[in-house]
Amino acid sequence: MPYHLDQFIADCSAILTRDPGPQGREEVRLGLERLLSNADFVRQCCGDDVPQGLKTLYEDPKLGFQILAHINDKARAGQPHDHGESWAIYGQATKYTEMTEWERVDDGRDPKHAKLKQVKKYRLMPGQAGIYQNGAIHAIDYPDKSRFVRVTGTNLDKISRVRFDLKTGEVHQMTPQIAT
Ligand SMILES: [Fe+2]
Repeated sequence: MPYHLDQFIADCSAILTRDPGPQGREEVRLGLERLLSNADFVRQCCGDDVPQGLKTLYEDPKLGFQILAHINDKARAGQPHDHGESWAIYGQATKYTEMTEWERVDDGRDPKHAKLKQVKKYRLMPGQAGIYQNGAIHAIDYPDKSRFVRVTGTNLDKISRVRFDLKTGEVHQMTPQIAT
């Protein structure tokens, strides 16, 4: 039986009510991979006919988590960033995303400057989902028509987050809709 969005939403609510911590989020990640194995869901939500844009598929009124479809037409390479006091799960729907994960190697005391070291690099392929826990730093780089579904612990536009300029080491507050 194919796994549908409404089932995934119900499962996310049940899982995150029971366990909002890393293990519960891992179960959500596996659920997102299962959802992305449903070719009808991918076609309807992320297919070539779906217009470009950021679409909120669901926001939970009680727990606050969101399910977002990133319908990208143009390639983009983003800077390293965090998701503040939230977590994010990226599930690839079409094409791929080059993921890099970073760690701060400075003492973290200077709010305006940071030194980062790349610790992981991999390609997220269709049907695969990656998880980035609270405070984790990552960057994404994707080609034209790369589309993904993201689950976040809360609406990231409403919390404080930072991005890092690798050339200058500057730390910048992120503004809404830079969203990645
Ligand atoms: Fe991100």
